[in-house]
Amino acid sequence: MATTTDRKTNEKTSSIEDEEALEREHFLRILYAYKNYRIYAMERVNRSEKSFNKLPDKHKKLLPAYLPTLSKVRSAIDTNYELILRITNSSDQMFVNKDMENVSDPRKKVKAVTSHDMEKIYTTLKQFARDWSSEGKHERDSCYKPIIDEVIARLPINESFQEQKKVLVPGAGLGRLAFEIARLGYECQGNEFSMIMLIAANFILNRSAGINVYTLHPWVHQYINNKCSEDQVKAIQIPDISTQNLPVNANFSMAAGDFLEVYTEPDYWDCIATCYFIDTAHNILEYLEKIYEILKPGGYWINLGPLLYHFADMHGEESIEISYSELRRVILELGFTILNEKTDVSSTYTQNPRSMLQYRYDCVFFTCQKPFVDTS
Ligand SMILES: C[S@@+](CC[C@H](N)C(=O)[O-])C[C@H]1O[C@@H](n2cnc3c(N)ncnc32)[C@H](O)[C@@H]1O
Repeated sequence: MATTTDRKTNEKTSSIEDEEALEREHFLRILYAYKNYRIYAMERVNRSEKSFNKLPDKHKKLLPAYLPTLSKVRSAIDTNYELILRITNSSDQMFVNKDMENVSDPRKKVKAVTSHDMEKIYTTLKQFARDWSSEGKHERDSCYKPIIDEVIARLPINESFQEQKKVLVPGAGLGRLAFEIARLGYECQGNEFSMIMLIAANFILNRSAGINVYTLHPWVHQYINNKCSEDQVKAIQIPDISTQNLPVNANFSMAAGDFLEVYTEPDYWDCIATCYFIDTAHNILEYLEKIYEILKPGGYWINLGPLLYHFADMHGEESIEISYSELRRVILELGFTILNEKTDVSSTYTQNPRSMLQYRYDCVFFTCQKPFVDTS
């Protein structure tokens, strides 16, 4: 007969097993989404071709380059797919006991690909341009550089790599900001919860070899606002820097999971650097409290980004949207001191530089310090 302790242990084990099964299922769904990229993207090209084929002959004659352009789009998608296969093949050590058969047959457990997953894969391709191409340097200079300069100003670099200061980058995306901070001699951890991003980050950070060795077409899914058709199929190379050439004593890691759940140790980090991250929260106040809790007394929070609350217009999702002035008041109320603040730092996020539509954010950029003595 099972005792209460046995039952509790069994319940705990089964909830861990349930969690692992769910996590594995999610991983397989994401791999399946990656593997379906080509079919999904080609369907969109087919739609353009069908529309063209329905045109009257006199209109077709006026557009002699239309179908040749679609051929270039198809071949650009093929090139992206080659990279995607490299990315997914490199994920084999991310999860043990991964059942690849399920990936090739979605009817076995794996749920169908959603357009939401596919949009995220398209975003990941653009994020490669932002983080790991020379094309993205301008964008990185507008948002990573101010943060890096501020980290250096607040926490002097220790070139001997001894007793490194600990810097956390939540919502690290494909990891370039965290990588650059680690390269300078800080112990730096990027944290990310999107499996789509994590698989791609794992590839570029751990499996890529050499400089500019992979080609991709990050803007190929943008059919509108192109000044010339070549802009849609513009190729870029990644990575613009060798990810294997970190100094031997560098201390760089990526941690998978929700920022609010992964970090529980209070007073641990010397600095937390958030870039285009704080508006990803359902409740931004939870992020603020977590940042305050896990910073060491005297530690710094450096933030740059807009307030494009991610869940603001998502049906059925909770979302707290507050203005910067309200956010600022709460930051002070929690006990932080604002050391540095700008409210007009112009920057972009995965912006196609040649597009006729340009999104540009007037970001807030600030540095706060947690007090040495807890006043809360
Ligand atoms: C807008 S992107 C910014 C990425 C990167 N910081 C940059 O500037 O390019 C926000 C990132 O935060 C991640 N993210 C959102 N909520 C998160 C959470 N609760 N924990 C960890 N990562 C999260 C998303 O998956 C996404 O990669």
